[in-house]
Amino acid sequence: MEEGQKTNSEQMSSIEIRRRRIREKEKKWRYKIAILSGKGGVGKSTISVNLSVALARRGYRVGLFDADVHGPDVAKMMGIQDPEISTEKMGDHTELVPHETDFGEKTAPIKVLTLGFFVEEDQPIIWRGPVIMKAIWQFLADVKWGELDFFIVDLPPGTGDKVLTVAKSIDLDAALVVTTPQEVSLLDCGKAVSLMRKLGVPYVAVIENMSYLICPHCGGRIYIFGKGGGKKLAEREGVDFLGEIPFDLRVREAGDKGIPIILLEESEVAKALMKLANWLEKKMKEKRPISAAK
Ligand SMILES: Nc1ncnc2c1ncn2[C@@H]1O[C@H](COP(=O)(O)OP(=O)(O)O)[C@@H](O)[C@H]1O
Ligand SMILES: [Mg+2]
Repeated sequence: MEEGQKTNSEQMSSIEIRRRRIREKEKKWRYKIAILSGKGGVGKSTISVNLSVALARRGYRVGLFDADVHGPDVAKMMGIQDPEISTEKMGDHTELVPHETDFGEKTAPIKVLTLGFFVEEDQPIIWRGPVIMKAIWQFLADVKWGELDFFIVDLPPGTGDKVLTVAKSIDLDAALVVTTPQEVSLLDCGKAVSLMRKLGVPYVAVIENMSYLICPHCGGRIYIFGKGGGKKLAEREGVDFLGEIPFDLRVREAGDKGIPIILLEESEVAKALMKLANWLEKKMKEKRPISAAK
């Protein structure tokens, strides 16, 4: 029977079964981190990918779930062209086994799952809301994520249903809200912060991306869109401000090449991303201690 033909109670029970399965699975994920934003195109995926790589480089077991169905760029940014996704029978249901990547042994294997694996790069995703929701449920409940130190979720932009579904399905330890310095992004970022706090996420913080350009001549900082917006917003909301990440053309080039910038060079932007990873690691370990595998 097609999903559309299922009765309401059948659909409810399949959601309930998945919900329970997620509860079981998340016990094996030590720190669950959501990356979100008010708007698209602010660098959520870039930050999710680079954070995952920074943590995996230290030997942590990282799972990266790209839940942004409208811009599933994570596969490309991670350089995954031919994902190896298999399935495994688990009792009464079948689970997907995520693709693993280690950048030629530069990091511990990172488990990656993105809708981008299932759609052609140049095809628009025209799935309707309920189908997208079902895909998100499945990616959380019917995937063999296994034991993880960090489960990182790259959420869709905004504060809509899809974000709520994920945030309510797993007990997040932290929500990092990414903004750019423009007013419009800051405004929406404030809403995302409020939502996460309302949902009881214990650690919420703001990251400002593309904050300034580095002058190629004098090395000075050029704040094209104004300075200090992200910091002010974080202060107003009473959450941590995790710093400014500069705009650097090499970030996009690295993303397009499929080699995350922090693996490439010691640039200012790579340092800012690394600092972010350090801070997150420290904050989470304060909560529940853990030692890295390496
Ligand atoms: N700090 C940065 N400097 C330069 N380009 C960036 C930076 N952060 C992100 N980008 C680029 O901006 C675009 C949008 O970033 P992305 O991470 O896909 O945003 P989102 O996931 O929020 O939609 C990408 O092409 C990415 O490479
Ligand atoms: Mg994205």
